[in-house]
Amino acid sequence: MATHPTYVDHHHIESDSSVFFKVATLLLGIAVGIVGFFALMMWADARDSRTDASAAPAARPAAVDHSQAGAMPLNSFAGVVPPNAQALAEAHKAYDAALPAAQAGPVAHVHLTLKDMTVQIAPGVKYNTWSFDGHGAPGPILHVRQGQLVKMTLTNGGTIPHSIDFHAARIAPNVAFRDVAPGESFSFQFRANDPGVFMYHCGTKPVLMHIANGMYGAIVVSPAKPLPPVDKNYVLVASEWYMTTDGIKQPASFDMAKAHAMEPDWTTFNGYANQYVTHPLTAKPGERVRLWVVAAGPTLDTDFHVVGTIFDRAWPNANITGTPQHGVQTVQVPAGGGGVFDVKINEPGLYPFVSHAFAHVDLGQVGLLKIGHPKGTMSH
Ligand code: CU
Ligand code: CU
Repeated sequence: MATHPTYVDHHHIESDSSVFFKVATLLLGIAVGIVGFFALMMWADARDSRTDASAAPAARPAAVDHSQAGAMPLNSFAGVVPPNAQALAEAHKAYDAALPAAQAGPVAHVHLTLKDMTVQIAPGVKYNTWSFDGHGAPGPILHVRQGQLVKMTLTNGGTIPHSIDFHAARIAPNVAFRDVAPGESFSFQFRANDPGVFMYHCGTKPVLMHIANGMYGAIVVSPAKPLPPVDKNYVLVASEWYMTTDGIKQPASFDMAKAHAMEPDWTTFNGYANQYVTHPLTAKPGERVRLWVVAAGPTLDTDFHVVGTIFDRAWPNANITGTPQHGVQTVQVPAGGGGVFDVKINEPGLYPFVSHAFAHVDLGQVGLLKIGHPKGTMSH
């Protein structure tokens, strides 16, 4: 049961006490950032140390009244989590990043239902999303094969019009991506002729708000001519969150002023800050791992990098019919775009995957690839 996300008016008069609390909040935010930075260096370097204590951002008090948001600067809730954040992070069920199998046969049926729902986007931080298929954000990972006919039905279980825009489709958007009224369903179909990993999202205006409220996901179109085989396939959807409140006592909603200023409170992989730090993606030493990455935005790019290794193969822009690049360190995945990255790691350890635009790491866009059973770490 979610309340309806609303715009926030940022034109209240600012009091002296709110300025004081903002400065205090800013200083605490910097402290959290420094802690996060050193934590990341520990994951990268200290194979013997127990790293999970740094899994969630350090707690800081949430006593500041953010209801009187001033014109500028905007109140940031970056890193604001309740004191039991570590326990909540461990109890959180991580979004399953494994690429599901593609449907067999010439036709792929996809039926997504839009639901309003409250989800957690960081430990103890609640947000009112508009969600595809009750997944929260992102929506379900879709997987079809090149040449399949995708028969898509969208059912709107929400309270305002929504739509769905597939970047994998070549189709007239005014016809296929049209608004669907609450309670109604709409179907269209397209031939998945272009392999890669693509974004899908709601295209209803204001698109910025609909994407920021969680209406996005990834669709993988496997190529007819197979890629080099790998042992593991993981899908990561990067995105950012803009919040009216800290989301701890009451769920936060969308803050248009922050979204326009491009000042997210949190950035995430698969919708929840640091979830793969606490619950790492896994592979055995020497296994090949393919990472299918989409940057959903709504606005910011992701500079994708895996600490401690180099991409054996990289297909920037997910152009997997082309020749991959070899020996690449960091590849930009643009908002609304994708990328495909192969790594093969022989030495057991914890290898962080990040957006190397490092503000995003402090805001939650970091996870771990756990190779083998490195010494000194907790198992989950
Ligand atoms: Cu929508
Ligand atoms: Cu789009």
